[in-house]
Amino acid sequence: MNNKKVFDLISERKSVRTYEDKPLSDKDKKTMTDFISANLDNPFYNKIEIIITEEDEKIVPSYGFIKGARSYMAGKTLNTKDGLLAYGYVFEKMILYCMSIGISTCWLGGSFKKNILSKKLRLKTDEIIPAVSPVGYAKEKRSMRDKAVRALAKSHKRKAFNELFYDKVDDNPVFKDAFEALRLAPSAANKQPWVVITDDETVHFYKKKNELKKDGFDIQLVDMGIAFCHFDLVMKEKGFEGKWMKLNKADEKDIEYIIGYG
Ligand SMILES: Cc1cc2nc3c(=O)[nH]c(=O)nc-3n(C[C@H](O)[C@H](O)[C@H](O)COP(=O)(O)O)c2cc1C
Repeated sequence: MNNKKVFDLISERKSVRTYEDKPLSDKDKKTMTDFISANLDNPFYNKIEIIITEEDEKIVPSYGFIKGARSYMAGKTLNTKDGLLAYGYVFEKMILYCMSIGISTCWLGGSFKKNILSKKLRLKTDEIIPAVSPVGYAKEKRSMRDKAVRALAKSHKRKAFNELFYDKVDDNPVFKDAFEALRLAPSAANKQPWVVITDDETVHFYKKKNELKKDGFDIQLVDMGIAFCHFDLVMKEKGFEGKWMKLNKADEKDIEYIIGYG
Protein backbone atom coordinates (compact mmCIF):
# COMPACT_ATOMS: atom_id res chain seq x y z
CA MET A 1 0.00 0.00 0.00
CA ASN A 2 1.76 3.12 -1.25
CA ASN A 3 4.98 1.03 -1.09
CA LYS A 4 4.45 0.24 2.59
CA LYS A 5 3.84 -3.21 3.98
CA VAL A 6 0.26 -3.73 5.10
CA PHE A 7 1.44 -5.59 8.19
CA ASP A 8 3.60 -2.62 9.24
CA LEU A 9 0.73 -0.18 8.70
CA ILE A 10 -1.53 -2.40 10.78
CA SER A 11 1.04 -2.60 13.59
CA GLU A 12 1.55 1.17 13.62
CA ARG A 13 -2.07 2.34 13.30
CA LYS A 14 -3.85 3.82 16.27
CA SER A 15 -6.83 6.09 16.71
CA VAL A 16 -6.01 9.80 16.75
CA ARG A 17 -8.46 12.21 18.40
CA THR A 18 -6.36 15.44 18.46
CA TYR A 19 -5.77 17.13 15.09
CA GLU A 20 -4.23 20.26 13.61
CA ASP A 21 -7.05 22.74 13.06
CA LYS A 22 -7.02 22.61 9.25
CA PRO A 23 -8.77 20.71 6.44
CA LEU A 24 -7.12 18.07 4.31
CA SER A 25 -4.86 19.59 1.62
CA ASP A 26 -6.25 19.52 -1.94
CA LYS A 27 -3.47 17.14 -2.94
CA ASP A 28 -4.24 14.66 -0.13
CA LYS A 29 -7.97 14.95 -0.78
CA LYS A 30 -7.45 14.07 -4.45
CA THR A 31 -5.10 11.17 -3.61
CA MET A 32 -7.68 9.81 -1.16
CA THR A 33 -10.62 10.26 -3.53
CA ASP A 34 -8.74 8.47 -6.33
CA PHE A 35 -7.83 5.60 -4.00
CA ILE A 36 -11.41 5.28 -2.76
CA SER A 37 -12.92 5.04 -6.23
CA ALA A 38 -10.45 2.30 -7.23
CA ASN A 39 -10.67 0.26 -4.01
CA LEU A 40 -14.29 -0.32 -3.03
CA ASP A 41 -14.11 -4.01 -3.94
CA ASN A 42 -14.49 -6.49 -1.10
CA PRO A 43 -15.68 -10.09 -0.62
CA PHE A 44 -19.12 -9.20 0.82
CA TYR A 45 -21.15 -6.41 -0.84
CA ASN A 46 -20.15 -4.11 -3.63
CA LYS A 47 -22.38 -1.06 -3.52
CA ILE A 48 -20.66 0.90 -0.81
CA GLU A 49 -20.11 4.61 -1.26
CA ILE A 50 -17.46 6.60 0.60
CA ILE A 51 -16.85 10.34 0.45
CA ILE A 52 -14.42 12.86 1.89
CA THR A 53 -16.20 15.93 3.12
CA GLU A 54 -15.30 19.21 4.77
CA GLU A 55 -16.97 20.06 8.01
CA ASP A 56 -18.93 22.98 6.58
CA GLU A 57 -21.57 22.33 9.20
CA LYS A 58 -20.48 20.59 12.39
CA ILE A 59 -20.53 16.83 11.75
CA VAL A 60 -19.08 15.86 15.10
CA PRO A 61 -20.34 17.94 18.06
CA SER A 62 -17.67 20.09 19.68
CA TYR A 63 -18.28 18.41 23.05
CA GLY A 64 -17.24 15.12 21.46
CA PHE A 65 -13.84 13.55 21.82
CA ILE A 66 -12.40 14.70 18.49
CA LYS A 67 -10.44 17.93 18.56
CA GLY A 68 -9.40 20.06 15.61
CA ALA A 69 -10.36 17.89 12.63
CA ARG A 70 -12.02 19.72 9.72
CA SER A 71 -12.35 16.94 7.12
CA TYR A 72 -14.18 13.66 7.46
CA MET A 73 -14.49 10.37 5.64
CA ALA A 74 -18.01 8.94 5.68
CA GLY A 75 -19.91 6.33 3.75
CA LYS A 76 -23.06 4.30 3.39
CA THR A 77 -23.98 0.66 3.00
CA LEU A 78 -27.00 -1.63 3.23
CA ASN A 79 -28.16 -2.45 6.75
CA THR A 80 -27.60 -6.20 6.30
CA LYS A 81 -24.99 -8.62 7.57
CA ASP A 82 -23.03 -8.51 4.30
CA GLY A 83 -23.44 -4.74 4.05
CA LEU A 84 -21.95 -4.20 7.51
CA LEU A 85 -19.09 -6.68 6.99
CA ALA A 86 -18.30 -4.93 3.72
CA TYR A 87 -18.34 -1.51 5.34
CA GLY A 88 -15.86 -2.60 8.01
CA TYR A 89 -13.62 -4.18 5.38
CA VAL A 90 -13.59 -1.27 2.91
CA PHE A 91 -13.49 1.60 5.42
CA GLU A 92 -10.54 -0.03 7.21
CA LYS A 93 -8.74 -0.39 3.86
CA MET A 94 -9.16 3.39 3.46
CA ILE A 95 -7.92 4.00 7.00
CA LEU A 96 -4.76 1.96 6.36
CA TYR A 97 -4.22 3.83 3.12
CA CYS A 98 -4.59 7.15 4.99
CA MET A 99 -1.82 6.00 7.34
CA SER A 100 0.43 5.18 4.42
CA ILE A 101 0.24 8.81 3.22
CA GLY A 102 0.52 10.44 6.66
CA ILE A 103 -3.17 11.09 7.35
CA SER A 104 -4.54 10.20 10.78
CA THR A 105 -7.97 8.74 11.52
CA CYS A 106 -10.31 7.48 14.24
CA TRP A 107 -13.29 5.17 13.67
CA LEU A 108 -16.40 6.86 15.14
CA GLY A 109 -19.53 4.79 15.50
CA GLY A 110 -21.36 7.32 17.64
CA SER A 111 -21.63 11.07 18.24
CA PHE A 112 -21.81 12.29 14.66
CA LYS A 113 -24.73 14.09 13.07
CA LYS A 114 -26.48 11.68 10.75
CA ASN A 115 -28.85 14.20 9.14
CA ILE A 116 -26.11 16.29 7.50
CA LEU A 117 -24.29 13.23 6.19
CA SER A 118 -27.53 11.52 5.11
CA LYS A 119 -28.14 14.41 2.72
CA LYS A 120 -24.59 14.42 1.40
CA LEU A 121 -24.73 10.66 0.81
CA ARG A 122 -28.34 10.64 -0.50
CA LEU A 123 -29.17 7.91 2.00
CA LYS A 124 -32.00 5.54 1.03
CA THR A 125 -34.32 3.93 3.59
CA ASP A 126 -32.53 0.56 3.60
CA GLU A 127 -29.07 2.15 3.88
CA ILE A 128 -27.09 3.35 6.91
CA ILE A 129 -23.95 5.27 7.82
CA PRO A 130 -22.43 2.85 10.35
CA ALA A 131 -19.39 4.96 11.20
CA VAL A 132 -17.26 7.91 10.06
CA SER A 133 -13.69 9.08 10.65
CA PRO A 134 -11.90 12.40 10.84
CA VAL A 135 -9.14 12.59 8.24
CA GLY A 136 -6.40 15.03 9.15
CA TYR A 137 -2.98 15.73 10.54
CA ALA A 138 -2.26 14.54 14.06
CA LYS A 139 -1.24 17.16 16.59
CA GLU A 140 1.86 16.14 18.44
CA LYS A 141 0.36 16.72 21.88
CA ARG A 142 -2.79 14.70 22.56
CA SER A 143 -5.68 16.42 24.37
CA MET A 144 -6.69 15.35 27.88
CA ARG A 145 -9.96 13.94 26.51
CA ASP A 146 -8.04 11.91 23.94
CA LYS A 147 -5.89 10.43 26.71
CA ALA A 148 -8.98 9.79 28.85
CA VAL A 149 -10.85 7.91 26.06
CA ARG A 150 -7.81 5.79 25.31
CA ALA A 151 -7.44 4.93 28.99
CA LEU A 152 -11.16 4.14 29.35
CA ALA A 153 -11.27 1.82 26.34
CA LYS A 154 -7.87 0.34 27.26
CA SER A 155 -7.05 1.08 23.63
CA HIS A 156 -3.43 -0.04 23.80
CA LYS A 157 -4.49 -3.54 24.91
CA ARG A 158 -5.54 -6.53 22.85
CA LYS A 159 -6.79 -9.92 23.99
CA ALA A 160 -4.18 -12.65 24.21
CA PHE A 161 -3.97 -15.16 21.36
CA ASN A 162 -5.61 -17.93 23.36
CA GLU A 163 -8.69 -15.78 24.03
CA LEU A 164 -9.33 -15.25 20.32
CA PHE A 165 -8.05 -18.46 18.80
CA TYR A 166 -9.78 -21.46 20.27
CA ASP A 167 -7.16 -23.96 19.23
CA LYS A 168 -3.50 -24.11 18.43
CA VAL A 169 -2.47 -21.27 16.15
CA ASP A 170 -0.88 -22.41 12.94
CA ASP A 171 2.89 -21.81 13.10
CA ASN A 172 3.02 -21.34 9.35
CA PRO A 173 4.41 -17.79 8.97
CA VAL A 174 1.74 -16.85 6.39
CA PHE A 175 -1.08 -17.59 8.83
CA LYS A 176 0.78 -16.37 11.87
CA ASP A 177 1.16 -12.82 10.57
CA ALA A 178 -2.40 -12.74 9.23
CA PHE A 179 -3.77 -13.85 12.61
CA GLU A 180 -1.62 -11.30 14.41
CA ALA A 181 -2.94 -8.62 12.02
CA LEU A 182 -6.48 -9.70 12.93
CA ARG A 183 -5.68 -9.52 16.65
CA LEU A 184 -4.42 -5.92 16.25
CA ALA A 185 -7.63 -4.72 14.58
CA PRO A 186 -9.51 -1.77 16.09
CA SER A 187 -13.05 -2.46 17.34
CA ALA A 188 -15.90 -0.47 18.87
CA ALA A 189 -15.10 0.17 22.56
CA ASN A 190 -12.13 -2.14 21.97
CA LYS A 191 -14.40 -5.16 22.60
CA GLN A 192 -12.58 -7.42 20.08
CA PRO A 193 -15.56 -9.70 19.43
CA TRP A 194 -13.68 -12.09 17.13
CA VAL A 195 -13.23 -15.81 17.70
CA VAL A 196 -11.30 -18.04 15.30
CA ILE A 197 -11.47 -21.81 15.07
CA THR A 198 -9.43 -23.64 12.45
CA ASP A 199 -9.71 -27.13 10.98
CA ASP A 200 -7.56 -28.81 8.33
CA GLU A 201 -9.09 -26.94 5.41
CA THR A 202 -10.85 -23.88 6.71
CA VAL A 203 -10.46 -20.96 9.09
CA HIS A 204 -13.85 -20.38 10.74
CA PHE A 205 -14.68 -16.91 12.03
CA TYR A 206 -17.24 -16.37 14.80
CA LYS A 207 -18.50 -13.25 16.56
CA LYS A 208 -19.12 -13.05 20.29
CA LYS A 209 -22.88 -12.66 20.73
CA ASN A 210 -24.39 -9.28 21.56
CA GLU A 211 -21.53 -7.50 23.23
CA LEU A 212 -22.72 -4.10 22.01
CA LYS A 213 -25.98 -3.06 20.36
CA LYS A 214 -26.62 0.35 18.91
CA ASP A 215 -29.13 2.29 16.83
CA GLY A 216 -30.83 -0.64 15.12
CA PHE A 217 -27.71 -2.26 13.72
CA ASP A 218 -25.01 -4.63 14.91
CA ILE A 219 -21.84 -2.55 15.03
CA GLN A 220 -19.85 -5.66 15.84
CA LEU A 221 -20.43 -6.90 12.30
CA VAL A 222 -18.44 -3.81 11.29
CA ASP A 223 -15.73 -4.94 13.75
CA MET A 224 -15.75 -8.35 12.05
CA GLY A 225 -15.33 -6.70 8.63
CA ILE A 226 -12.35 -4.71 9.92
CA ALA A 227 -10.69 -7.89 11.22
CA PHE A 228 -11.34 -9.66 7.88
CA CYS A 229 -9.71 -6.73 6.07
CA HIS A 230 -6.53 -7.09 8.17
CA PHE A 231 -6.48 -10.87 7.75
CA ASP A 232 -7.22 -10.81 4.00
CA LEU A 233 -4.77 -8.03 3.09
CA VAL A 234 -1.91 -9.77 4.91
CA MET A 235 -2.76 -13.12 3.30
CA LYS A 236 -2.80 -11.41 -0.11
CA GLU A 237 0.47 -9.63 0.61
CA LYS A 238 1.99 -13.06 1.27
CA GLY A 239 0.67 -14.28 -2.07
CA PHE A 240 -2.20 -16.39 -0.71
CA GLU A 241 -5.54 -15.84 -2.44
CA GLY A 242 -8.06 -17.69 -0.28
CA LYS A 243 -11.81 -17.85 -0.75
CA TRP A 244 -14.43 -16.51 1.65
CA MET A 245 -17.13 -19.16 2.05
CA LYS A 246 -20.61 -18.85 3.48
CA LEU A 247 -20.89 -22.23 5.18
CA ASN A 248 -23.86 -23.66 6.92
CA LYS A 249 -22.30 -24.02 10.34
CA ALA A 250 -24.14 -23.81 13.63
CA ASP A 251 -23.50 -21.15 16.26
CA GLU A 252 -21.89 -22.32 19.48
CA LYS A 253 -23.06 -21.32 22.96
CA ASP A 254 -21.95 -17.70 23.06
CA ILE A 255 -20.51 -17.26 19.58
CA GLU A 256 -22.27 -16.69 16.26
CA TYR A 257 -20.90 -18.22 13.06
CA ILE A 258 -20.01 -15.59 10.44
CA ILE A 259 -17.91 -17.04 7.62
CA GLY A 260 -15.19 -19.48 6.59
CA TYR A 261 -11.95 -18.87 4.67
CA GLY A 262 -9.83 -21.42 2.91
C1 LIG B 1 -16.69 0.41 14.62
C2 LIG B 1 -15.93 1.29 15.59
C3 LIG B 1 -16.57 2.34 16.24
C4 LIG B 1 -15.85 3.18 17.10
N1 LIG B 1 -16.49 4.25 17.68
C5 LIG B 1 -15.79 5.13 18.44
C6 LIG B 1 -16.44 6.31 18.96
O1 LIG B 1 -17.64 6.53 18.76
N2 LIG B 1 -15.68 7.17 19.69
C7 LIG B 1 -14.34 6.97 19.91
O2 LIG B 1 -13.71 7.81 20.55
N3 LIG B 1 -13.69 5.85 19.43
C8 LIG B 1 -14.39 4.94 18.70
N4 LIG B 1 -13.75 3.83 18.18
C9 LIG B 1 -12.30 3.63 18.37
C10 LIG B 1 -12.00 2.51 19.37
O3 LIG B 1 -12.25 2.92 20.69
C11 LIG B 1 -10.53 2.09 19.19
O4 LIG B 1 -10.34 1.59 17.89
C12 LIG B 1 -10.08 1.04 20.19
O5 LIG B 1 -10.13 1.55 21.51
C13 LIG B 1 -8.64 0.56 19.91
O6 LIG B 1 -7.74 1.64 19.92
P1 LIG B 1 -6.81 1.95 18.66
O7 LIG B 1 -7.74 2.22 17.48
O8 LIG B 1 -6.00 3.14 19.03
O9 LIG B 1 -5.97 0.73 18.40
C14 LIG B 1 -14.46 2.95 17.34
C15 LIG B 1 -13.83 1.89 16.70
C16 LIG B 1 -14.53 1.07 15.83
C17 LIG B 1 -13.82 -0.04 15.12
